[in-house]
Amino acid sequence: MPSAVYVCICNAVTDHDIRAAAEAGCTNLAGLTMRTGAGACCGSCVESATQVLAEARAAIELPLVLLDRAA
Ligand code: FES
Repeated sequence: MPSAVYVCICNAVTDHDIRAAAEAGCTNLAGLTMRTGAGACCGSCVESATQVLAEARAAIELPLVLLDRAA
């Protein structure tokens, strides 16, 4: 597993934390903020956190799309 990268410095939230939140069912920034604190202070991480969350969600949802196509 690659080293973690801090996405939210204010709340020490890493990309690994965001991926874990996505795997736990987090689908949007509001949920991510509630779960991890990302974006709750200065807000400068919001764009990056949203992007990492979207990438994580896409990686989770992709296999389901492939299964649907195979059926
Ligand atoms: S860097 Fe995330 S709230 Fe400040």
